[in-house]
Amino acid sequence: MKVLGILASHQEHGLNAQMLDEVLKNVDEGVETETIYLENYQITPHKYHEKNPVLDELSEKLMSSDVWVFAAPTYWRELSGVLKNFFDCMRPKFVYFKENGDTIPGKFKDKHYLSITSCYVSPLENFVTGVTDESFKTIDRVMSAAGVIKTGEIVLPGTFGMKEIPEAKKRLAVKYGHKISHKKRKDDSTLKRYIQLFFMIAIMALITMGIQVPLQNIMPIDNFWINYISFTVIFFVLLACILHFVTFVKHRRR
Ligand SMILES: Cc1cc2nc3c(=O)[nH]c(=O)nc-3n(C[C@H](O)[C@H](O)[C@H](O)COP(=O)(O)O)c2cc1C
Repeated sequence: MKVLGILASHQEHGLNAQMLDEVLKNVDEGVETETIYLENYQITPHKYHEKNPVLDELSEKLMSSDVWVFAAPTYWRELSGVLKNFFDCMRPKFVYFKENGDTIPGKFKDKHYLSITSCYVSPLENFVTGVTDESFKTIDRVMSAAGVIKTGEIVLPGTFGMKEIPEAKKRLAVKYGHKISHKKRKDDSTLKRYIQLFFMIAIMALITMGIQVPLQNIMPIDNFWINYISFTVIFFVLLACILHFVTFVKHRRR
């Protein structure tokens, strides 16, 4: 089992480097780790019929690792250029092309990754405006095309003037260090998601029927169609609220 840290910051010993180091030094015993600093590599696109030893070397490192940890600051509200360039140049290795131009996951399919990014703005501002969102989204988009499975993400906001990472983030790094030490063949959260869905529906149905009880005073709920329509409307409103919470509020990064 091997974890590869990929540092893509302008600063070799900055906060992303510290965060990455904190994750890697907390992997379980027996797990091998290695860090590569992308600025040390001359990463250029692969040219047809020409050898590209740098891409081959990096590809080899990716292949020999089970988990990749990307640590890249947010620059101009986007992913750092060096990581974006790495993704762009690695595209032919990340995906295979079908005859119609569609892509399918390439040779790294079913490996795992963890993303780390940081920004100057405060946790509250990042929560409200989502400064780091694009950085995570770009990593997720590329990894999804390559068939690489996400294990989580760590955001470090409020880095202006910060010299050392806060204790809470160090604890998060420790948690992820252990989490990524266990090899999982596939995204094994499917069963968990079905169980969550079952309980969500059961609770929503209960709340809906609870709301319908006092409605008996103002409408004939014992009529099948009125019962059905009121149930559907109340259930829909509850579902919309939950989906809004899950997609917009819970997934906001702080
Ligand atoms: C070119 C550049 C662009 C940046 N753009 C943003 C930005 O749009 N929003 C923000 O909050 N911080 C921005 N920052 C601050 C970086 O996110 C911050 O320097 C980073 O957290 C430091 O990470 P490091 O110590 O690993 O280098 C920018 C920094 C640089 C160098």
